[in-house]
Amino acid sequence: MTHSSLLRSDETLFRDPEVFELTYLPEHLHHRDAQVRELAFLIRPALRGASVGSAVLRGPPGTGKTTTVRHLFAAVTEETKRIVPVYVNCRHDHTALAVYRSIFVQVCGSPAPSAGRYLDDIKEGIATRLHDENAALVVCLDDADELIAAGTYNTLLYQLLRLYEKWDVRKAGVFAVTSDLARNLYAEADPSVRSVFHPLEVTFWPYTKAEIHEILADRVRQGLYPRVISKILLDRIATIAAGEQDVRVGIDLLRAAVQRAEKDGRRRVGPEDVVAAARAITRPSLRTRAADLSAGERALLSRIAERSREGRDMASGAVFEAAREYLPVGKTTYHEHLNVLATAGIVDLVPGVGRGRAIRLRYDPEDVFAVCNARTKPAKTRTEHGIS
Ligand SMILES: Nc1ncnc2c1ncn2[C@@H]1O[C@H](COP(=O)(O)OP(=O)(O)OP(=O)(O)O)[C@@H](O)[C@H]1O
Ligand SMILES: [Mg+2]
Repeated sequence: MTHSSLLRSDETLFRDPEVFELTYLPEHLHHRDAQVRELAFLIRPALRGASVGSAVLRGPPGTGKTTTVRHLFAAVTEETKRIVPVYVNCRHDHTALAVYRSIFVQVCGSPAPSAGRYLDDIKEGIATRLHDENAALVVCLDDADELIAAGTYNTLLYQLLRLYEKWDVRKAGVFAVTSDLARNLYAEADPSVRSVFHPLEVTFWPYTKAEIHEILADRVRQGLYPRVISKILLDRIATIAAGEQDVRVGIDLLRAAVQRAEKDGRRRVGPEDVVAAARAITRPSLRTRAADLSAGERALLSRIAERSREGRDMASGAVFEAAREYLPVGKTTYHEHLNVLATAGIVDLVPGVGRGRAIRLRYDPEDVFAVCNARTKPAKTRTEHGIS
């Protein structure tokens, strides 16, 4: 390494580190035109004085659901005062009071008065403002699963969608978002809710490798100085992120690899930086997710990993037929195991041909296989040495 390639301590490879933050709203939203169009179609009638339609947004983690809504809402806010888009992060706000407080702030532009301890005061404040401005409300309940867990989902939907019954406002729209593909947010609604909740299903499929590559290339252009990362290494990162089916992994990998090079005082990211970053980022998450699996679930996952490595048919039915030859599982147990693997975030069950579903691994098959078959080893070694 030549002297000139060493960085002085005040030098950085990041032109704009914020670009790699999770809260960063990218300037360009790639490959989500169809979803934006569908959601805009639901909002548009409100410009002509009609009400806003509702939607259920579904897609695995890191498929751009939150980003798409934030992009659209920002555009709507800029364009018109007749529609008031409100974004609620249900991971943070899942009690009725917290959700209404969040809506109040965004509709009224100031925090709900602390005297408004009673929900009705806050709701009335929201309704009054909407009425005065003749504005239509559309609320995004992001990660709405959290409301179901908190037991507030149905009450909130009921009240938001029927706001117009109590106050002189237009019917609100609700965009309910989930990253749990096994969850049906429409079916979770009570009949009394469903009679006013007719959501359009908007699906966010995992990005292809090419799409992830494009999203990452944008971040590189905006966030890094020229030539910090080579085309080949960016491509390698895109491949890993595509394997994880999570663009977020790609963004994290980029940042971690660049930080590693920077720390070493190099001007360019090397292959070893990417390898180290990938180990650090993907392995632990897989290990954590696999930690609580039962022996049966682990055995099935191991078969799935082998099959996926061999590039075989991953349709749920075909995997079941193959698994049955090795494992003593009936159809019911098999589906229970699959659901556990999906809930643990190790596989995705994606709609396949006809009524069937296809199993998609979120991790590198080699890593999954290793994790499935690693657990018994330490125990064996211990007994061998007579420790346990
Ligand atoms: N189409 C896109 N263009 C640019 N950046 C994107 C795009 N889609 C996702 N991203 C980036 O990827 C990351 C994850 O996206 P986002 O948070 O929107 O996913 P999500 O579907 O809401 O995931 P989760 O279900 O985990 O909440 C964010 O940092 C976001 O900026
Ligand atoms: Mg999200």
